[in-house]
Amino acid sequence: MSRPVITTDARASGRAAAGLPRPPVPKPAGARLSGHLPRWGRDAIALLEEGARLGPVFRVRLWRPALVGYQPGWNRTILSDLDGFRSRGSMSQLSPFLRGGVIALDAPAHRPRRAQLNPTFHRQAIAPLFTGRFQDIVDRSRPQGTFDAVTWASAVVRRLLTEAFFGPGRSPALEEFLAPLDRSLPAPLLPRPLRIRRMRRVLRAALADPPPGTLLAAFAALPGPSDDAVEEARVALAAGYDTTAHTVAFALWEIAARPDLNDPDRTGAVVREALRLYPAGWIGSRVAVRDVDVEGVRVPAGHLVLYSPYLTHRDPQVWDQPDRFRPERFDRPLPAWGYLPFGAGERICLGAALATAMVQAAVRAFAGGRLRRVGGDPRPTGVLTLTPRGPLILDHRP
Ligand code: HEM
Repeated sequence: MSRPVITTDARASGRAAAGLPRPPVPKPAGARLSGHLPRWGRDAIALLEEGARLGPVFRVRLWRPALVGYQPGWNRTILSDLDGFRSRGSMSQLSPFLRGGVIALDAPAHRPRRAQLNPTFHRQAIAPLFTGRFQDIVDRSRPQGTFDAVTWASAVVRRLLTEAFFGPGRSPALEEFLAPLDRSLPAPLLPRPLRIRRMRRVLRAALADPPPGTLLAAFAALPGPSDDAVEEARVALAAGYDTTAHTVAFALWEIAARPDLNDPDRTGAVVREALRLYPAGWIGSRVAVRDVDVEGVRVPAGHLVLYSPYLTHRDPQVWDQPDRFRPERFDRPLPAWGYLPFGAGERICLGAALATAMVQAAVRAFAGGRLRRVGGDPRPTGVLTLTPRGPLILDHRP
């Protein structure tokens, strides 16, 4: 994506300090009455890319006014001030799948809850518990011949999440609960009272007697009311499903074009690069608590403030040849606040280590075989998570 080199942030900060009027924040084309919501629904990625060509911060009118930025300084300010930028009223809270548990908490309640949850999801807890079990499951479900990577990855991730949370076996209630996340908008945003109630019932029963060595066993040991543990598990399952599945599908699609990458020694870098080029969490949002200046731009209280890992990861000022899939780039140190597939700061993805273990197991399952592209449409679209337009048809010969 080619972008002009823009230095308006520094200029705007200087003008503000000198009491001079600031330049207006640009906005992409949108209907006068309905704002940008129709374009957002049709093709949010195209809207973001158009906005990014206008400047480092641009405004869009969604269901409320929003400012979008993507440079590292913007990310740092938005993500490291939980008092000034709240989750309540932000985008994730539009979906009943993500409305609950730690995702819905704000300062000051957010920090103690994360302190309770973090040890369970830490890499040192996740890797020894699940790496071997995940690899067994994926190796057993490895397809032969022609398959759609999106459908396969989604089925495998449902199995892996079941293993991690409930232990061996299948969970029809979980499959039913997650099904709307596989559909296009507005399906993932619609209220789902029956599914949610059933999922809560199943989780409550499982938490009463959880198999040892599962995440539910750790959730059951959390202090506080047992309904908190039910909600934490429910939103984690939803937050960890299509995000992980789409990352797997995009990674396989890229490996299929470069057989040299289908090598277990390169899996770590391949997964990191898939998360860069196709960050499932393509947009993140907060609500400004009070009027504030961010990178020289006035953000009024109540405005939505968006950060976009998709735009940051494809910014030529941050990444060399950003549109190319090149895992080799991870030989170098990462740009500060320029690589954030899991967000950053105190709200960084709780499931990052679990997700990485799942994606790595799925990618490793193909090592040594021959994977090739048959056809499909990999263009990323911004649904609740970044989704390949699809299908992604591959052929695998062991
Ligand atoms: C490749 C897969 C995944 C990606 C790309 C991803 C991405 C993200 C991102 C970008 C955020 C921060 C959102 C923000 O700043 O508002 C986030 C938060 C979160 N993620 Fe993930 N995620 C993934 C998998 C998972 C998994 C497997 C789980 C749990 C099982 C999970 C649970 C959560 C939770 C609970 C939060 C909210 C944390 C908080 O607000 O303190 N995610 N994720």
